[in-house]
Amino acid sequence: MWRHGERCVILAVAAVALVAAATATAAAAVGGERRTYIVHMSRSAKPNDFVEHGEWYAASLQSVSDAATVLYTYDTLVHGYSARLTRAEAEALESQPGVLLVNPEVRYELHTTRTPEFLGLDRTDALFPQSNTGSDVIVGVLDTGVWPERPSYDDAGLGPVPAGWKGKCEEGNDFNASACNKKLIGARFFLTGYEAAKGPVDTSKESRSPRDNDGHGTHTSSTAAGSAVRGADLLGYAAGTAKGMAPHARVATYKVCWVGGCFSSDILKAMEVAVNDGVDVLSLSLGGGTADYYRDSIAVGAYSAMERGIFVSCSAGNAGPGSATLSNGAPWITTVGAGTLDRDFPAHVVLGNGKNYSGVSLYSGKQLPTTPVPFIYAGNASNSSMGALCMSGSLIPEKVAGKIVLCDRGTNARVQKGFVVKDAGGAGMVLANTAANGEELVADAHVLPGAGVGQKAGDTMRAYALSDPNPTASIVFAGTQVGIQPSPVVAAFSSRGPNTVTPGILKPDLIAPGVNILAAWSGSVGPSGLAGDSRRVGFNIISGTSMSCPHVSGLAALLRAAHQDWSPAAIRSALMTTSYNGYPNGNGILDVATGLPATPLDVGAGHVDPSKAVDPGLVYDIAAADYVDFLCAINYGPMQIAALTKHTTDACSGNRTYAVTALNYPSFSVTFPATGGTEKHTRTVTNVGQPGTYKVTASAAAGSTPVTVSVEPSTLTFTKSGEKQSYTVSFAAAAMPSGTNGFGRLVWSSDHHVVSSPIAVTWT
Ligand SMILES: *[C@@H]1O[C@H](CO)[C@@H](O)[C@H](O)[C@H]1NC(C)=O
Ligand SMILES: *[C@@H]1O[C@H](CO)[C@@H](O)[C@H](O)[C@H]1NC(C)=O
Ligand SMILES: *[C@@H]1O[C@H](CO)[C@@H](O)[C@H](O)[C@H]1NC(C)=O
Ligand SMILES: *[C@@H]1O[C@H](CO)[C@@H](O)[C@H](O)[C@H]1NC(C)=O
Ligand SMILES: *[C@@H]1O[C@H](CO)[C@@H](O)[C@H](O)[C@H]1NC(C)=O
Repeated sequence: MWRHGERCVILAVAAVALVAAATATAAAAVGGERRTYIVHMSRSAKPNDFVEHGEWYAASLQSVSDAATVLYTYDTLVHGYSARLTRAEAEALESQPGVLLVNPEVRYELHTTRTPEFLGLDRTDALFPQSNTGSDVIVGVLDTGVWPERPSYDDAGLGPVPAGWKGKCEEGNDFNASACNKKLIGARFFLTGYEAAKGPVDTSKESRSPRDNDGHGTHTSSTAAGSAVRGADLLGYAAGTAKGMAPHARVATYKVCWVGGCFSSDILKAMEVAVNDGVDVLSLSLGGGTADYYRDSIAVGAYSAMERGIFVSCSAGNAGPGSATLSNGAPWITTVGAGTLDRDFPAHVVLGNGKNYSGVSLYSGKQLPTTPVPFIYAGNASNSSMGALCMSGSLIPEKVAGKIVLCDRGTNARVQKGFVVKDAGGAGMVLANTAANGEELVADAHVLPGAGVGQKAGDTMRAYALSDPNPTASIVFAGTQVGIQPSPVVAAFSSRGPNTVTPGILKPDLIAPGVNILAAWSGSVGPSGLAGDSRRVGFNIISGTSMSCPHVSGLAALLRAAHQDWSPAAIRSALMTTSYNGYPNGNGILDVATGLPATPLDVGAGHVDPSKAVDPGLVYDIAAADYVDFLCAINYGPMQIAALTKHTTDACSGNRTYAVTALNYPSFSVTFPATGGTEKHTRTVTNVGQPGTYKVTASAAAGSTPVTVSVEPSTLTFTKSGEKQSYTVSFAAAAMPSGTNGFGRLVWSSDHHVVSSPIAVTWT
């Protein structure tokens, strides 16, 4: 959850510095600095003088630069190569025949923080009745690598590696080929692009191999498909059996993220190699591309993966709760937001005035004395204007010694603040939210007795610390609590729609557990991921859409095993149309950011419900050709479409009308001008259940203003499996102020199935 205020600030500052640096460089240097570009070529344009495409690429590169060498060639998902080029060279290449696009390398971010966050039990037992399926399914995870010795990669009981698997266990620092087995069937690493940009990997900090020195990749891959491990816990919290969503599926890891980030030339190559290796599902808990799809390597790689029937699941991002904050919004990707589980890790902060506040904590260790401890606000224990944040070196030891210190959340890492208080001699810490985080609570494995509290509690505690002549406090840790209601609630950090690249496609697609997730961890770092943290744990509890994405990847593996003929779009449709968006009492799933019911812009179709997804009744299928029509509809040019699809001739016919509203998506995003209007969508559903008749109900409204939704026909009768039926939906609405949103649902119901689609309406 790098979103949580803390790192965002740092990233924003860095971005300003980069822009300044880039401007200065452009002004100063004539030749310009080299950076990596991905050069997309039209394979069929190769002149006959060249036998191999590689020779042609090398010649193309040499024609603009003597100095540049090819970093990677790409020949499956895209055609072309990457190389270090000056801007002038890149521009020269762009006008060469056969060159479709020249995309500058982009650095992507993991969609979580390196510091541990929530604590919670993985609910996989409840989620997976048919968990013995999936042993022929291979989940490829692009991330920070793997810690193969963890019991989550135990292969006991698994049959031979699926036939046709071409993956490898690559050796490197601290990593032998023998690390792989029948569970972890592949482990590779990609750093040519990274090292070209950042210089050689510092092997004192990270292994030049598939080994995970971060924890993130071990966490995500074990969440998707880790074997069941009894007696898992973090420092005594969340004790139980930890198990991936598809515990019998195989895992292949592709390390693309290093200390300095995840680079698009490496990501694209890793996706290509994973596809050639034979993965069935690709899981990417990273992002950063909000650019057009043909500029976003994840979208580009995912397109060709989709064409090959590979399900690609990506995290929506942790930039919520603001609107239009999501990444990975391409319609051929399944975009996953995050919700909470029904578990919590309460800690009670009791003040000297008798007031009792509930907070959260994963602290484990020596407890505070049961008698009240002096309490002080960090802002009054520092001579620095940043003192309230408990920045390194900012606390005055004489003022905090032996006390519980209230630190404001923000700017530096939450667990780091505990180190600062401890170093200054403090006895404990209350970590209080400010307006930036509201009531969102994050339980951390603090290094001293510490608890996180919401903004409201924080405000009254600050006031108490400032006004009481002898303020005192105590913190009581209450362990792991289950059955927390309501749950799930949408995590504040979960990135929200609308989809900025194509507002006509509703994103995220759905949410899954992404808060308080317990899964395997690296042996190289402590649970906080901080350098000063010498603790080592086999499991860790962290949060982010990085955690929700592999839940969906694992579920997709189960569905793939249960329905081998389903396309990626059919699998996504099943997950979406069976997801739920309310609690058993009928109230809508809440958004922790607002305390109000979430909307389809927050949760898409709703929260995943795997046991229902196995038998969805109807699916909205999408073939690769339909996505080409979609690309025509969004007015991509021939070169841009070719970079994604590799279609060499102009894919869009001049005498056809293309419409985003015709893409057979299992959700509806409707856009009206402020004056109101009408919009017609067409859809086709495929019966994947028994014969039967479905009746539609559909409605939408913006507050008390209804949107007219009419569906034609309103009844669909299926006599056999595989049968397709089409319908049209017309949305009509009066004028509304621009920026108004309305929401609703369109539901097909039979005696056995409910096929539910969300509707989001925006007046622009
Ligand atoms: C790799 O194998 C060598 C030789 O058997 C062994 O000494 C080394 O400890 C192994 N390394 C790891 C990380 O397992
Ligand atoms: C504080 O409140 C919790 C319940 O919210 C309760 O379990 C705990 O005992 C209370 N502690 C004190 C000291 O009142
Ligand atoms: C404590 O800090 C607040 C503001 O941060 C200030 O208004 C107040 O005067 C300070 N109190 C003491 C005793 O330093
Ligand atoms: C502020 O506090 C730090 C740490 O106690 C100390 O080194 C520094 O001299 C102080 N500065 C002022 C201006 O008091
Ligand atoms: C429309 O396309 C068809 C074939 O795709 C072609 O035969 C026809 O001439 C086209 N019509 C126009 C007006 O371009």
